[in-house]
Amino acid sequence: MEHVTAGSSFAALAYLVAGVCFILALRGLSSPTSSQRGNRFGMIGMTIAVVTTLVTHVPVDQLLVTESTPAFDYTAILQRVDYLTVLELLAAIGIGAVIGLVTARRIAMTAMPQLVAAFHSLVGLAAVLVAAAAFLNPMAFGIAQLVVPMIGEPFAYIAPVSRVEMGLGVAIGAITFSGSVIAFLKLNGNMGGAPILLPGRHLINLGTLAAILLLVVHFTQDQSPWVFWTITALSFVIGFLLIIPIGGADMPVVVSMLNSYSGWAAAAMGFTLHNSAMIITGALVGSSGAILSYIMCRAMNRSFISVIAGGFGAESGGGGAGAAKTDRPWKRGSAEDAAFLMQQAEQVIIVPGYGMAVAQAQHVLREMADKLKEHGVRVKYAIHPVAGRMPGHMNVLLAEANVPYDEVFELEDINSEFAQTDVAFVIGANDVTNPAAKTDKTSPIYGMPVLDVEKAKTVLFVKRSMGGVGYAGVDNDVFYMDNTMMLLADAKKMVEEIVKSLD
Ligand code: TAP
Repeated sequence: MEHVTAGSSFAALAYLVAGVCFILALRGLSSPTSSQRGNRFGMIGMTIAVVTTLVTHVPVDQLLVTESTPAFDYTAILQRVDYLTVLELLAAIGIGAVIGLVTARRIAMTAMPQLVAAFHSLVGLAAVLVAAAAFLNPMAFGIAQLVVPMIGEPFAYIAPVSRVEMGLGVAIGAITFSGSVIAFLKLNGNMGGAPILLPGRHLINLGTLAAILLLVVHFTQDQSPWVFWTITALSFVIGFLLIIPIGGADMPVVVSMLNSYSGWAAAAMGFTLHNSAMIITGALVGSSGAILSYIMCRAMNRSFISVIAGGFGAESGGGGAGAAKTDRPWKRGSAEDAAFLMQQAEQVIIVPGYGMAVAQAQHVLREMADKLKEHGVRVKYAIHPVAGRMPGHMNVLLAEANVPYDEVFELEDINSEFAQTDVAFVIGANDVTNPAAKTDKTSPIYGMPVLDVEKAKTVLFVKRSMGGVGYAGVDNDVFYMDNTMMLLADAKKMVEEIVKSLD
């Protein structure tokens, strides 16, 4: 536990520099070309923040004993540092760094969303633990005064403003924690992706949220432990309730929203700890996450309020959830058929999805496009905003395979072209091409804009089997259309065969 030197000009300046680094990091991350520089700024900022906290750290017991010492004299503080505690902190940082390094090296690109959700849960949990520590020992955090009443035991009176920070911090932290755990379980496949719709859930959610807010207000008047712990418990419950009704297709928005919550939780704790770096960083994460969620909601035609209110508007019935209906007639094609059809085409639009990422087919796909171009075919790539499993997933993979940037188009820029296109080559994509999103009100993806692949003269669909469904778990009518030919195989193997046939 520590008390950060609020008045120390050294710490304040260092935290400000760290804050500027974080702003530059965000700016860098806004474009693929400057993202590495952005990451470097983020690492420098975090190093400055951690080192500053370590060198200005004052052990609680010594701080209390030496209250008469000029508390924010930098050299005096350094002399009072308890080296054992610093060693303990360094050991904790070392363990965390090793876990982070091993995870980052091992994690598959396709598992990134669940990793991010897991990290958010840790931020939420940290906020809850800091708030709990501050509540249990407020004198150590410099947020309370010792009151010695005429009758009864002396007690630590927590300043009402600190109680509001603590109440909000623990509430947002607990919601972030339990919400992120559910998001992790859904994204990792440990829990079904279909929405779980409890009867009367809107009433339960609104009631629980209102109770939390009322308790935070009550906490300013009454610092009894029951108030603090009830806020914590109800917030854990509401985090769980808000995420279970959210269907698979909306999970990307949920992850960025939880990212935003984790930022606000950190900012609230920054006030309790009097740590300006945490306030700046938390506000940056909170606001950028909120902006990203809003942009993604617009891209997916979802109401922002309905997603943050826990699937408001999601109707029971679950649409066509379940495995594909293989008893319907469908046509199977071979690599040779596909090569022949594409060679004859004037324009081919490639629609990549999650399956391309799983198969790591992006390099051989570019080879196929190069061969088609040699045959005089115009090739374009159509990217859906939530194709794959993370924002920009397809763009990153295509860039890695050196696909020319001017051949890659966003949904709204290319969707009208399918009607004049000879071949739509769908590789490992499913939900993002499903016309049920336009027609079936009971479908979990209803309302999401989709790529109109069925309008092309011929649709070639690469996937491994007719039984496999996409992330939202719904069947796709395009598989059974007259102009569709199914190419059933692993995406990489199929494209390799097509390249051979094109030779
Ligand atoms: P999906 O709808 O998930 O479909 C993937 C398809 O790839 C499936 O049809 C699967 O069928 C096929 N596939 C899997 N492995 C393959 C392989 N090795 N070779 C060939 N095919 C393979 O993908 P999508 O169209 O990209 O849609 C993305 C979905 O994920 C959306 O519902 C979206 O909301 C959700 N989501 C997106 C994000 C972000 S931010 N992008 C984050 C989380 C969730 P088989 O099993 O039969 O092969």
